[in-house]
Amino acid sequence: MLPLGGRNLRAGTLTPITPAMSAHARKRLYIKTYGCQMNVYDSERMADVLAPLGYGLTERPADADLVVLNTCHIREKATEKVYSELGQLKRLKEARAAAGGEMTIAVAGCVAQAEGEEIMRRQPAVDLVVGPQAYHQLPELIARTHRARGERLAADFAPQTKFDALSPERRPGGVAAFLTVQEGCDKFCTFCVVPYTRGAEWSRPAEAIEAEARALAARGVREVTLLGQNVNAYAGEGGLAGLIRRLARIEGLDRIRYTTSHPRDMDQALIAAHAEVPELMPYLHLPVQAGSDRVLKAMNRAHTAGGYLRLIETIRAHRPDIAISGDFIVGFPGEREADFEATLELVREVGYAQAFSFKYSRRPGTPAAALPGQVPEAVKEARLHRLQALLEEQQGAFNAAQAGRTLPVLFEKAGRRPGQLVGRSPYLQAVHAEAPDRLIGQIIAVRVESAAAHSLAGRLEAGLEIA
Ligand code: 5AD
Ligand code: SF4
Repeated sequence: MLPLGGRNLRAGTLTPITPAMSAHARKRLYIKTYGCQMNVYDSERMADVLAPLGYGLTERPADADLVVLNTCHIREKATEKVYSELGQLKRLKEARAAAGGEMTIAVAGCVAQAEGEEIMRRQPAVDLVVGPQAYHQLPELIARTHRARGERLAADFAPQTKFDALSPERRPGGVAAFLTVQEGCDKFCTFCVVPYTRGAEWSRPAEAIEAEARALAARGVREVTLLGQNVNAYAGEGGLAGLIRRLARIEGLDRIRYTTSHPRDMDQALIAAHAEVPELMPYLHLPVQAGSDRVLKAMNRAHTAGGYLRLIETIRAHRPDIAISGDFIVGFPGEREADFEATLELVREVGYAQAFSFKYSRRPGTPAAALPGQVPEAVKEARLHRLQALLEEQQGAFNAAQAGRTLPVLFEKAGRRPGQLVGRSPYLQAVHAEAPDRLIGQIIAVRVESAAAHSLAGRLEAGLEIA
Protein backbone atom coordinates (compact mmCIF):
# COMPACT_ATOMS: atom_id res chain seq x y z
CA MET A 1 0.00 0.00 0.00
CA LEU A 2 1.11 3.49 -0.69
CA PRO A 3 1.30 5.97 2.16
CA LEU A 4 -0.64 8.45 0.16
CA GLY A 5 -3.02 10.95 1.60
CA GLY A 6 -3.73 8.78 4.60
CA ARG A 7 -7.41 8.82 3.78
CA ASN A 8 -9.65 6.21 5.20
CA LEU A 9 -11.39 4.65 2.32
CA ARG A 10 -14.44 2.51 2.22
CA ALA A 11 -15.24 0.61 -0.91
CA GLY A 12 -17.50 2.69 -3.04
CA THR A 13 -16.47 6.03 -1.62
CA LEU A 14 -15.94 8.84 -4.02
CA THR A 15 -12.40 9.90 -3.33
CA PRO A 16 -11.94 13.66 -3.12
CA ILE A 17 -9.05 14.05 -5.50
CA THR A 18 -7.47 17.45 -6.14
CA PRO A 19 -10.49 19.72 -6.14
CA ALA A 20 -9.81 22.38 -8.72
CA MET A 21 -11.17 22.25 -12.19
CA SER A 22 -8.54 24.00 -14.22
CA ALA A 23 -9.66 27.36 -15.56
CA HIS A 24 -9.69 26.12 -19.13
CA ALA A 25 -11.23 22.72 -18.41
CA ARG A 26 -13.79 22.13 -21.08
CA LYS A 27 -14.90 18.67 -20.03
CA ARG A 28 -15.90 17.13 -16.77
CA LEU A 29 -14.44 14.01 -15.27
CA TYR A 30 -16.00 11.97 -12.49
CA ILE A 31 -13.81 9.31 -10.91
CA LYS A 32 -15.20 6.87 -8.42
CA THR A 33 -12.51 5.01 -6.53
CA TYR A 34 -13.05 1.67 -4.83
CA GLY A 35 -10.64 -0.10 -2.54
CA CYS A 36 -7.08 0.44 -1.53
CA GLN A 37 -4.59 3.28 -1.45
CA MET A 38 -3.10 1.98 -4.64
CA ASN A 39 -6.34 2.79 -6.39
CA VAL A 40 -6.46 6.23 -4.78
CA TYR A 41 -3.03 6.88 -6.17
CA ASP A 42 -4.00 5.60 -9.61
CA SER A 43 -7.13 7.76 -9.62
CA GLU A 44 -5.04 10.81 -8.92
CA ARG A 45 -2.71 9.93 -11.76
CA MET A 46 -5.67 9.38 -14.08
CA ALA A 47 -6.95 12.84 -13.24
CA ASP A 48 -3.43 14.17 -13.91
CA VAL A 49 -3.05 12.55 -17.32
CA LEU A 50 -6.52 13.64 -18.38
CA ALA A 51 -6.18 17.28 -17.31
CA PRO A 52 -4.17 18.28 -20.41
CA LEU A 53 -6.95 16.82 -22.55
CA GLY A 54 -9.27 19.39 -21.04
CA TYR A 55 -10.85 17.30 -18.27
CA GLY A 56 -11.50 18.86 -14.86
CA LEU A 57 -13.03 16.98 -11.94
CA THR A 58 -16.65 17.03 -10.96
CA GLU A 59 -18.32 15.34 -8.01
CA ARG A 60 -21.58 14.77 -9.84
CA PRO A 61 -21.69 11.83 -12.24
CA ALA A 62 -24.74 13.33 -13.95
CA ASP A 63 -22.58 16.28 -15.08
CA ALA A 64 -19.67 14.20 -16.28
CA ASP A 65 -18.49 13.86 -19.85
CA LEU A 66 -16.22 11.05 -18.74
CA VAL A 67 -16.88 8.65 -15.88
CA VAL A 68 -14.12 6.40 -14.63
CA LEU A 69 -14.88 3.62 -12.17
CA ASN A 70 -11.57 2.68 -10.64
CA THR A 71 -12.54 -0.71 -9.30
CA CYS A 72 -11.33 -3.12 -6.65
CA HIS A 73 -11.56 -6.85 -6.65
CA ILE A 74 -10.68 -7.58 -3.09
CA ARG A 75 -14.09 -7.84 -1.52
CA GLU A 76 -16.75 -10.31 -2.24
CA LYS A 77 -19.42 -9.12 -4.56
CA ALA A 78 -17.19 -6.26 -5.68
CA THR A 79 -17.85 -7.14 -9.27
CA GLU A 80 -21.61 -7.15 -8.79
CA LYS A 81 -21.36 -3.75 -7.16
CA VAL A 82 -19.60 -2.43 -10.20
CA TYR A 83 -22.26 -3.80 -12.51
CA SER A 84 -24.99 -2.25 -10.43
CA GLU A 85 -23.20 1.10 -10.52
CA LEU A 86 -22.81 0.72 -14.26
CA GLY A 87 -26.56 0.15 -14.55
CA GLN A 88 -27.16 3.54 -12.95
CA LEU A 89 -24.55 5.19 -15.14
CA LYS A 90 -26.19 3.71 -18.22
CA ARG A 91 -29.36 5.62 -17.35
CA LEU A 92 -27.37 8.85 -16.94
CA LYS A 93 -25.67 8.21 -20.25
CA GLU A 94 -29.02 7.67 -21.95
CA ALA A 95 -30.41 10.86 -20.41
CA ARG A 96 -27.37 12.73 -21.66
CA ALA A 97 -27.75 11.28 -25.15
CA ALA A 98 -31.44 12.24 -25.16
CA ALA A 99 -30.35 15.80 -24.42
CA GLY A 100 -27.99 15.67 -27.40
CA GLY A 101 -24.84 15.15 -25.30
CA GLU A 102 -22.30 12.42 -24.90
CA MET A 103 -20.95 10.52 -21.90
CA THR A 104 -17.99 8.17 -21.98
CA ILE A 105 -17.83 5.40 -19.39
CA ALA A 106 -14.55 3.72 -18.51
CA VAL A 107 -13.91 0.88 -16.09
CA ALA A 108 -10.41 0.76 -14.64
CA GLY A 109 -8.63 -1.18 -11.92
CA CYS A 110 -8.75 -4.78 -10.77
CA VAL A 111 -12.26 -5.66 -11.90
CA ALA A 112 -11.33 -4.39 -15.33
CA GLN A 113 -8.32 -6.68 -15.22
CA ALA A 114 -10.32 -9.70 -14.07
CA GLU A 115 -13.32 -9.28 -16.35
CA GLY A 116 -11.72 -7.62 -19.38
CA GLU A 117 -13.96 -7.26 -22.40
CA GLU A 118 -16.66 -9.26 -20.63
CA ILE A 119 -17.64 -6.00 -18.93
CA MET A 120 -18.51 -4.43 -22.25
CA ARG A 121 -20.51 -7.47 -23.29
CA ARG A 122 -22.50 -7.45 -20.07
CA GLN A 123 -22.94 -3.69 -19.99
CA PRO A 124 -22.71 -2.20 -23.48
CA ALA A 125 -22.87 1.33 -22.07
CA VAL A 126 -19.20 0.87 -21.12
CA ASP A 127 -16.93 2.46 -23.72
CA LEU A 128 -13.59 1.26 -22.49
CA VAL A 129 -11.86 -1.01 -20.04
CA VAL A 130 -8.42 -0.18 -18.60
CA GLY A 131 -6.38 -2.60 -16.51
CA PRO A 132 -4.59 -1.57 -13.33
CA GLN A 133 -1.44 0.48 -13.77
CA ALA A 134 -2.64 1.30 -17.25
CA TYR A 135 -3.78 4.77 -16.33
CA HIS A 136 -1.09 6.19 -18.55
CA GLN A 137 -2.91 4.61 -21.50
CA LEU A 138 -6.05 6.60 -20.81
CA PRO A 139 -5.27 9.46 -23.21
CA GLU A 140 -4.80 6.93 -26.00
CA LEU A 141 -7.93 4.97 -25.11
CA ILE A 142 -10.06 8.08 -24.80
CA ALA A 143 -8.74 9.42 -28.09
CA ARG A 144 -9.56 6.11 -29.80
CA THR A 145 -13.08 6.07 -28.35
CA HIS A 146 -13.74 9.60 -29.47
CA ARG A 147 -12.32 8.97 -32.89
CA ALA A 148 -14.57 5.93 -33.29
CA ARG A 149 -17.46 8.32 -32.82
CA GLY A 150 -15.98 10.65 -35.40
CA GLU A 151 -14.98 13.31 -32.86
CA ARG A 152 -11.73 15.19 -32.69
CA LEU A 153 -10.13 15.46 -29.32
CA ALA A 154 -9.78 19.06 -28.21
CA ALA A 155 -6.52 18.81 -26.37
CA ASP A 156 -4.32 21.44 -24.84
CA PHE A 157 -1.62 20.68 -27.36
CA ALA A 158 0.01 23.52 -29.16
CA PRO A 159 -1.43 23.46 -32.68
CA GLN A 160 2.00 23.13 -34.26
CA THR A 161 5.08 21.62 -32.73
CA LYS A 162 8.45 21.04 -34.14
CA PHE A 163 7.65 17.33 -34.28
CA ASP A 164 4.24 17.86 -35.77
CA ALA A 165 5.48 19.00 -39.13
CA LEU A 166 7.26 17.02 -41.77
CA SER A 167 10.54 18.61 -42.87
CA PRO A 168 8.68 21.57 -44.36
CA GLU A 169 11.77 23.44 -45.46
CA ARG A 170 12.85 21.03 -48.15
CA ARG A 171 12.27 22.10 -51.71
CA PRO A 172 8.93 23.88 -51.81
CA GLY A 173 8.85 24.15 -55.60
CA GLY A 174 11.01 23.39 -58.56
CA VAL A 175 11.84 19.99 -59.94
CA ALA A 176 11.28 18.06 -56.74
CA ALA A 177 7.98 18.28 -54.85
CA PHE A 178 6.16 16.90 -51.87
CA LEU A 179 2.88 15.12 -52.30
CA THR A 180 0.71 14.32 -49.29
CA VAL A 181 -0.79 10.85 -49.49
CA GLN A 182 -1.67 10.10 -45.88
CA GLU A 183 -2.28 11.96 -42.66
CA GLY A 184 -2.68 11.15 -39.02
CA CYS A 185 -1.39 8.38 -36.84
CA ASP A 186 -2.87 5.45 -34.94
CA LYS A 187 0.37 4.28 -33.38
CA PHE A 188 0.21 6.23 -30.13
CA CYS A 189 3.89 6.22 -29.30
CA THR A 190 3.73 7.38 -25.71
CA PHE A 191 5.94 10.45 -26.26
CA CYS A 192 4.12 11.82 -29.28
CA VAL A 193 1.31 14.35 -29.75
CA VAL A 194 0.55 13.51 -33.36
CA PRO A 195 -2.18 10.91 -32.74
CA TYR A 196 -4.03 13.54 -30.71
CA THR A 197 -3.38 16.59 -32.84
CA ARG A 198 -3.67 15.04 -36.28
CA GLY A 199 -6.23 12.36 -35.53
CA ALA A 200 -6.68 8.93 -37.03
CA GLU A 201 -4.76 7.57 -40.00
CA TRP A 202 -6.39 8.65 -43.20
CA SER A 203 -5.32 7.99 -46.79
CA ARG A 204 -6.10 9.96 -49.92
CA PRO A 205 -7.59 7.99 -52.80
CA ALA A 206 -4.96 6.79 -55.29
CA GLU A 207 -6.79 8.47 -58.20
CA ALA A 208 -6.50 11.90 -56.57
CA ILE A 209 -2.82 11.35 -55.82
CA GLU A 210 -2.14 10.18 -59.34
CA ALA A 211 -3.93 13.22 -60.78
CA GLU A 212 -1.83 15.53 -58.64
CA ALA A 213 1.36 13.70 -59.55
CA ARG A 214 0.51 14.01 -63.26
CA ALA A 215 -0.09 17.74 -62.83
CA LEU A 216 3.26 18.07 -61.05
CA ALA A 217 5.05 16.13 -63.80
CA ALA A 218 3.38 18.33 -66.42
CA ARG A 219 4.90 21.41 -64.82
CA GLY A 220 8.35 19.91 -64.79
CA VAL A 221 8.56 18.06 -61.49
CA ARG A 222 10.75 14.99 -61.85
CA GLU A 223 10.90 13.80 -58.28
CA VAL A 224 8.07 13.42 -55.76
CA THR A 225 8.34 12.63 -52.09
CA LEU A 226 5.16 10.99 -50.86
CA LEU A 227 4.33 12.40 -47.45
CA GLY A 228 2.48 11.04 -44.48
CA GLN A 229 2.99 10.80 -40.76
CA ASN A 230 2.75 7.06 -41.34
CA VAL A 231 3.17 6.98 -45.06
CA ASN A 232 3.77 3.24 -45.30
CA ALA A 233 0.41 2.65 -43.60
CA TYR A 234 -1.11 4.09 -46.78
CA ALA A 235 -4.41 2.27 -47.05
CA GLY A 236 -5.51 3.21 -50.55
CA GLU A 237 -5.80 0.55 -53.23
CA GLY A 238 -2.66 -1.57 -53.43
CA GLY A 239 -1.11 0.03 -50.37
CA LEU A 240 1.96 2.22 -50.65
CA ALA A 241 3.74 -0.28 -52.92
CA GLY A 242 0.79 -0.22 -55.33
CA LEU A 243 0.73 3.55 -55.28
CA ILE A 244 4.47 3.77 -56.00
CA ARG A 245 4.15 1.38 -58.95
CA ARG A 246 1.24 3.43 -60.26
CA LEU A 247 3.10 6.73 -60.00
CA ALA A 248 6.26 5.22 -61.48
CA ARG A 249 4.38 4.82 -64.78
CA ILE A 250 3.85 8.57 -65.12
CA GLU A 251 5.88 9.99 -67.96
CA GLY A 252 8.54 12.42 -66.73
CA LEU A 253 8.30 11.40 -63.10
CA ASP A 254 11.65 9.68 -62.65
CA ARG A 255 12.16 9.59 -58.93
CA ILE A 256 9.89 8.61 -56.07
CA ARG A 257 10.59 8.81 -52.35
CA TYR A 258 8.39 8.51 -49.29
CA THR A 259 8.54 9.56 -45.67
CA THR A 260 7.94 8.88 -42.75
CA SER A 261 7.57 5.17 -42.23
CA HIS A 262 6.88 3.00 -39.21
CA PRO A 263 8.73 -0.33 -38.95
CA ARG A 264 5.45 -2.07 -38.22
CA ASP A 265 4.00 -1.13 -41.62
CA MET A 266 7.03 -2.09 -43.70
CA ASP A 267 5.38 -4.89 -45.65
CA GLN A 268 6.82 -7.36 -48.14
CA ALA A 269 5.22 -5.61 -51.11
CA LEU A 270 6.96 -2.35 -50.23
CA ILE A 271 10.28 -4.10 -49.69
CA ALA A 272 9.87 -5.84 -53.05
CA ALA A 273 9.17 -2.46 -54.68
CA HIS A 274 12.60 -1.31 -53.53
CA ALA A 275 14.12 -4.17 -55.52
CA GLU A 276 11.88 -3.90 -58.55
CA VAL A 277 10.88 -0.29 -59.20
CA PRO A 278 13.82 1.69 -60.60
CA GLU A 279 12.03 5.00 -59.95
CA LEU A 280 11.88 4.25 -56.24
CA MET A 281 15.02 5.82 -54.78
CA PRO A 282 17.33 3.74 -52.57
CA TYR A 283 16.68 5.76 -49.44
CA LEU A 284 14.52 4.87 -46.49
CA HIS A 285 13.68 6.95 -43.46
CA LEU A 286 12.74 4.35 -40.88
CA PRO A 287 12.70 5.72 -37.32
CA VAL A 288 13.60 3.31 -34.54
CA GLN A 289 13.70 5.86 -31.66
CA ALA A 290 15.71 3.65 -29.29
CA GLY A 291 17.73 0.45 -29.14
CA SER A 292 16.55 -0.92 -25.82
CA ASP A 293 13.54 -3.22 -25.82
CA ARG A 294 12.55 -1.98 -22.38
CA VAL A 295 12.44 1.60 -23.63
CA LEU A 296 10.78 0.62 -26.90
CA LYS A 297 8.05 -1.08 -24.91
CA ALA A 298 7.53 1.96 -22.71
CA MET A 299 7.38 4.02 -25.90
CA ASN A 300 4.65 1.70 -27.23
CA ARG A 301 6.61 1.29 -30.43
CA ALA A 302 5.31 -2.21 -31.16
CA HIS A 303 8.70 -3.44 -32.33
CA THR A 304 11.89 -4.64 -30.71
CA ALA A 305 15.47 -3.71 -31.52
CA GLY A 306 16.02 -7.19 -32.93
CA GLY A 307 12.88 -6.96 -35.06
CA TYR A 308 14.07 -3.65 -36.48
CA LEU A 309 17.52 -5.05 -37.25
CA ARG A 310 16.03 -8.07 -39.02
CA LEU A 311 13.82 -5.75 -41.04
CA ILE A 312 16.81 -3.69 -42.12
CA GLU A 313 18.60 -6.91 -43.07
CA THR A 314 15.66 -8.02 -45.23
CA ILE A 315 15.43 -4.63 -46.91
CA ARG A 316 19.15 -4.66 -47.63
CA ALA A 317 18.90 -8.16 -49.05
CA HIS A 318 16.48 -6.68 -51.60
CA ARG A 319 18.29 -3.40 -52.17
CA PRO A 320 21.88 -3.69 -50.93
CA ASP A 321 22.85 -0.06 -51.51
CA ILE A 322 19.85 1.45 -49.74
CA ALA A 323 20.62 4.45 -47.52
CA ILE A 324 18.96 4.13 -44.14
CA SER A 325 17.89 7.14 -42.14
CA GLY A 326 16.30 7.25 -38.71
CA ASP A 327 14.88 9.24 -35.81
CA PHE A 328 16.14 8.82 -32.25
CA ILE A 329 15.04 9.98 -28.85
CA VAL A 330 17.47 10.02 -25.94
CA GLY A 331 16.49 10.38 -22.31
CA PHE A 332 13.04 8.84 -22.53
CA PRO A 333 11.64 8.43 -18.98
CA GLY A 334 13.33 5.49 -17.29
CA GLU A 335 16.17 5.28 -19.82
CA ARG A 336 19.23 3.97 -18.00
CA GLU A 337 22.81 4.13 -19.15
CA ALA A 338 22.58 0.52 -20.38
CA ASP A 339 19.47 1.35 -22.41
CA PHE A 340 21.25 4.25 -24.04
CA GLU A 341 24.24 2.02 -24.80
CA ALA A 342 21.82 -0.33 -26.55
CA THR A 343 20.80 2.57 -28.80
CA LEU A 344 24.44 3.19 -29.68
CA GLU A 345 24.87 -0.52 -30.36
CA LEU A 346 21.88 -0.57 -32.69
CA VAL A 347 23.23 2.46 -34.54
CA ARG A 348 26.58 0.69 -34.96
CA GLU A 349 24.85 -2.37 -36.37
CA VAL A 350 22.69 -0.47 -38.84
CA GLY A 351 25.12 2.16 -40.11
CA TYR A 352 22.98 5.20 -40.88
CA ALA A 353 23.38 7.43 -43.90
CA GLN A 354 21.44 10.19 -42.17
CA ALA A 355 19.57 10.69 -38.92
CA PHE A 356 17.57 13.03 -36.73
CA SER A 357 18.05 12.80 -33.00
CA PHE A 358 16.24 14.54 -30.18
CA LYS A 359 16.30 14.88 -26.44
CA TYR A 360 13.06 13.53 -25.04
CA SER A 361 10.72 16.45 -24.50
CA ARG A 362 7.83 16.10 -22.13
CA ARG A 363 4.57 16.82 -23.91
CA PRO A 364 1.64 17.28 -21.52
CA GLY A 365 -1.22 14.95 -22.31
CA THR A 366 0.99 12.25 -23.73
CA PRO A 367 1.32 9.13 -21.57
CA ALA A 368 5.11 9.42 -21.22
CA ALA A 369 4.79 12.84 -19.62
CA ALA A 370 3.24 11.13 -16.60
CA LEU A 371 5.85 8.36 -16.36
CA PRO A 372 8.21 8.23 -13.42
CA GLY A 373 11.97 8.36 -13.99
CA GLN A 374 12.16 11.55 -16.03
CA VAL A 375 15.81 11.91 -17.04
CA PRO A 376 17.74 15.03 -15.96
CA GLU A 377 18.45 17.56 -18.67
CA ALA A 378 22.22 17.27 -18.30
CA VAL A 379 22.07 13.51 -18.83
CA LYS A 380 19.91 13.93 -21.92
CA GLU A 381 22.29 16.53 -23.23
CA ALA A 382 25.33 14.30 -22.74
CA ARG A 383 23.63 11.31 -24.36
CA LEU A 384 22.48 13.34 -27.33
CA HIS A 385 26.01 14.54 -27.79
CA ARG A 386 27.42 11.01 -27.82
CA LEU A 387 24.71 9.73 -30.15
CA GLN A 388 25.13 12.61 -32.57
CA ALA A 389 28.89 12.15 -32.67
CA LEU A 390 28.38 8.54 -33.75
CA LEU A 391 25.67 9.42 -36.28
CA GLU A 392 27.79 12.21 -37.78
CA GLU A 393 30.69 9.79 -38.11
CA GLN A 394 28.43 7.34 -39.95
CA GLN A 395 27.04 9.99 -42.23
CA GLY A 396 30.58 11.12 -43.02
CA ALA A 397 31.58 7.55 -43.80
CA PHE A 398 28.55 7.01 -46.00
CA ASN A 399 29.33 10.16 -47.96
CA ALA A 400 33.03 9.34 -48.21
CA ALA A 401 32.18 5.94 -49.66
CA GLN A 402 30.67 7.68 -52.70
CA ALA A 403 33.98 9.27 -53.68
CA GLY A 404 35.10 7.92 -57.04
CA ARG A 405 31.61 6.67 -57.91
CA THR A 406 29.47 8.08 -60.67
CA LEU A 407 25.97 8.96 -59.49
CA PRO A 408 22.89 10.16 -61.33
CA VAL A 409 22.17 13.61 -59.93
CA LEU A 410 18.90 15.47 -60.37
CA PHE A 411 19.98 19.11 -60.58
CA GLU A 412 17.60 21.36 -58.68
CA LYS A 413 18.99 24.88 -58.51
CA ALA A 414 22.03 27.15 -58.63
CA GLY A 415 24.77 26.24 -56.18
CA ARG A 416 26.57 28.56 -53.79
CA ARG A 417 29.35 29.40 -56.23
CA PRO A 418 28.81 30.95 -59.67
CA GLY A 419 28.68 28.37 -62.43
CA GLN A 420 27.74 25.66 -59.95
CA LEU A 421 24.50 23.70 -59.66
CA VAL A 422 23.32 21.62 -56.74
CA GLY A 423 21.22 18.52 -56.97
CA ARG A 424 20.47 15.27 -55.19
CA SER A 425 21.98 11.84 -55.51
CA PRO A 426 19.67 8.81 -55.31
CA TYR A 427 20.68 8.63 -51.63
CA LEU A 428 19.39 12.17 -51.02
CA GLN A 429 22.86 13.63 -50.68
CA ALA A 430 23.33 17.20 -51.89
CA VAL A 431 25.79 17.12 -54.82
CA HIS A 432 27.55 20.22 -56.12
CA ALA A 433 29.08 20.37 -59.60
CA GLU A 434 30.02 22.93 -62.24
CA ALA A 435 27.17 22.81 -64.71
CA PRO A 436 25.16 25.12 -66.95
CA ASP A 437 21.73 26.31 -65.78
CA ARG A 438 19.99 24.47 -68.57
CA LEU A 439 20.72 21.23 -66.73
CA ILE A 440 18.34 22.18 -63.90
CA GLY A 441 15.60 19.57 -63.94
CA GLN A 442 17.78 16.96 -65.60
CA ILE A 443 19.34 13.83 -64.23
CA ILE A 444 23.01 13.85 -65.07
CA ALA A 445 25.90 11.49 -64.37
CA VAL A 446 28.28 13.09 -61.90
CA ARG A 447 31.57 11.63 -60.86
CA VAL A 448 31.99 12.28 -57.14
CA GLU A 449 35.40 13.74 -56.35
CA SER A 450 35.09 14.72 -52.71
CA ALA A 451 32.79 14.22 -49.79
CA ALA A 452 32.08 16.53 -46.88
CA ALA A 453 30.01 15.90 -43.77
CA HIS A 454 26.75 16.93 -45.42
CA SER A 455 27.37 17.08 -49.14
CA LEU A 456 29.33 15.79 -52.11
CA ALA A 457 31.18 17.59 -54.87
CA GLY A 458 31.92 16.23 -58.33
CA ARG A 459 32.22 16.85 -62.03
CA LEU A 460 29.90 16.02 -64.91
CA GLU A 461 30.86 12.65 -66.33
CA ALA A 462 30.19 13.40 -69.97
CA GLY A 463 27.39 15.94 -69.87
CA LEU A 464 25.01 13.14 -70.76
CA GLU A 465 21.55 12.79 -69.37
CA ILE A 466 21.22 9.28 -68.04
CA ALA A 467 17.65 9.23 -66.81
N1 5AD B 1 10.38 14.31 -27.52
C1 5AD B 1 11.43 14.15 -28.36
N2 5AD B 1 11.33 13.78 -29.62
C2 5AD B 1 10.10 13.56 -30.12
N3 5AD B 1 9.68 13.18 -31.34
C3 5AD B 1 8.35 13.13 -31.33
N4 5AD B 1 7.87 13.45 -30.11
C4 5AD B 1 8.95 13.72 -29.33
C5 5AD B 1 9.13 14.10 -27.98
N5 5AD B 1 8.09 14.25 -27.15
C6 5AD B 1 10.60 12.87 -32.43
C7 5AD B 1 10.55 11.39 -32.84
C8 5AD B 1 9.81 11.43 -34.14
C9 5AD B 1 10.24 12.75 -34.70
C10 5AD B 1 9.41 13.30 -35.80
O1 5AD B 1 10.22 13.61 -33.59
O2 5AD B 1 11.85 10.93 -33.02
O3 5AD B 1 10.12 10.34 -34.98
FE1 SF4 C 1 4.16 9.96 -33.38
FE2 SF4 C 1 5.34 8.69 -35.43
FE3 SF4 C 1 4.74 7.36 -33.18
FE4 SF4 C 1 2.78 8.19 -34.81
S1 SF4 C 1 4.38 6.65 -35.28
S2 SF4 C 1 2.81 8.32 -32.61
S3 SF4 C 1 3.62 10.14 -35.56
S4 SF4 C 1 6.23 9.04 -33.43
